[in-house]
Amino acid sequence: GSLPDRRNDDLYRDYIDDRNAKSQDTLYCTSNGVPYPHPYESQRAGENGPLLLQDFHLVDLLSHFDRERIPERVVHAKGSGAHGYYRTTESLEDLCLADIFKAGKSCPITIRFSTVGGESGSHDCARDPRGFAVKFRTDEGNWDMVANNTPVFFLRDPAKFPHFIHTQKRHPATNLSGSDDSTMFWDYLSQNPESIHQVMVLMGDRGIPDGYRFMHGYSGHTFKLVNKKGDWQGTEFITQADSASKSPDHSQKDLYYAIERGDFPGWDVADLWEKEKINVFDLTHVWPQKQFPLRKVGEFFLNENVQNYFVEIEQATFNPSHMVPGIEPSSDPVLQSRLFSYPDTHRHRVGKNYQQLPVNAPKVPYRMANFQRAGNMAFYNQGARPNYLSSIEPISFRNRSVNLNKTHGHFIGEAITFLSEIRPEDFRFPRELWERVFEDGAKERFIGNVSGHMANCSDKEIIKRQIGIFREVSEDLASRLEKATGVKGYPGISGLRFNGTHNGMAKDKSLRAAN
Ligand code: HEM
Repeated sequence: GSLPDRRNDDLYRDYIDDRNAKSQDTLYCTSNGVPYPHPYESQRAGENGPLLLQDFHLVDLLSHFDRERIPERVVHAKGSGAHGYYRTTESLEDLCLADIFKAGKSCPITIRFSTVGGESGSHDCARDPRGFAVKFRTDEGNWDMVANNTPVFFLRDPAKFPHFIHTQKRHPATNLSGSDDSTMFWDYLSQNPESIHQVMVLMGDRGIPDGYRFMHGYSGHTFKLVNKKGDWQGTEFITQADSASKSPDHSQKDLYYAIERGDFPGWDVADLWEKEKINVFDLTHVWPQKQFPLRKVGEFFLNENVQNYFVEIEQATFNPSHMVPGIEPSSDPVLQSRLFSYPDTHRHRVGKNYQQLPVNAPKVPYRMANFQRAGNMAFYNQGARPNYLSSIEPISFRNRSVNLNKTHGHFIGEAITFLSEIRPEDFRFPRELWERVFEDGAKERFIGNVSGHMANCSDKEIIKRQIGIFREVSEDLASRLEKATGVKGYPGISGLRFNGTHNGMAKDKSLRAAN
């Protein structure tokens, strides 16, 4: 079928005007927006005197230049990317409740391909695995598939990863990288035999793909797909062929100009699934495709080059822990450690508010809210809404009828309980405090303290609820507070719904869930 005729401009909100502006429509300014007619001139005292500190244009120019670089990715630093579309061609609803896997669903995507070991200016045709990272902007938030072009990896214990990568990077003394320093390279591999499958792929014909358009992508790990019933299965992804090389930016050129001439690269998305008992949590092993056939789910295309590589690709943050309901991590230790490592490096590499950048921000059909506020460069700071779970301005927690609480059950038993659930025993020790520890004077002062403080509370409902809670501790305590505040409280908490807290003492089941 035809590609959706949509550009990704809507991803860029405020950036959009600049993204599409023609250079002749622009005006040279200092960073505070003041037009400046001398882009090439510094102010100096007299003919041959020193420069002037008052020359904001020069200070502005140099100081920004001094700070132009952000850290490159610690691995996968050399990359290329583009925007496009994913669509589900065959429903996966029997296996997975993710909304994006319903037949006909589609979403905008951004992809970044990369080599692994080299620095940001290194050769595209290095013998190296290739990264294949996809950001799916689904209606339920962003799902990132941070994959490689090979189904296996060098290790199954994540504690080895920094050691292994250091042997690919520059040696402290020779300053030569693993591709030149073959001692380092083989020293590691010869001590870590589980790398052998990946080494054979690397040293074989597939070790240097001809650009990024002709290679497969594999998520590598087993993930859990959870269906509505809470059952789960594993996945994998695939397509197309590969070969050899040329210029240092061979893959970048190939991808960019293919998209420019309308030769949009595309991939099938497939899910590999089977229930058999093999160790699917070992990343150095494969699931043989003959035994575990692929099942096509959908396809994606890259139909739009980026306008600005730094904004749309370098600052893009792909993260295996970005999952949507229905897709969950397995216990693969390498995956588990990646769930931590990526957002950790993103906070360092891009900054703590990296999720607010246009390329990373979710594009969801609801107004997203949470309590992550402020920090450097916060520009989506969520307006005037209170920055705690307020009962006066509550936010909702549920968007779908699916019981998402069920999903973890099959994996770790029923070990997950809600720490916030209120139970009768929560009131036992407060009751002892009131009945046995506080003597009469202490009780009086307590009532005075609480009622005095509550006098400034702007919402009567809050007082009624709080007295209901005190009543679970002691009827005596609650009625004394009622007298002191002049507010009749709730008879207890069994009829209350709390904002964010599970009321395990509610009689009505629907009140037990949070919000
Ligand atoms: C990039 C860590 C294994 C695929 C990265 C980055 C880190 C990292 C820190 C830089 C991310 C950034 O700056 O945005 C790790 C660790 C691993 C591991 C600790 C194992 C213990 C893997 C595996 C795969 C993979 C097994 C593939 C199946 C990628 C890709 C990128 C990447 C594709 C580049 C993402 C992009 O284009 O922005 N990794 N990685 N990594 N990793 Fe891994």
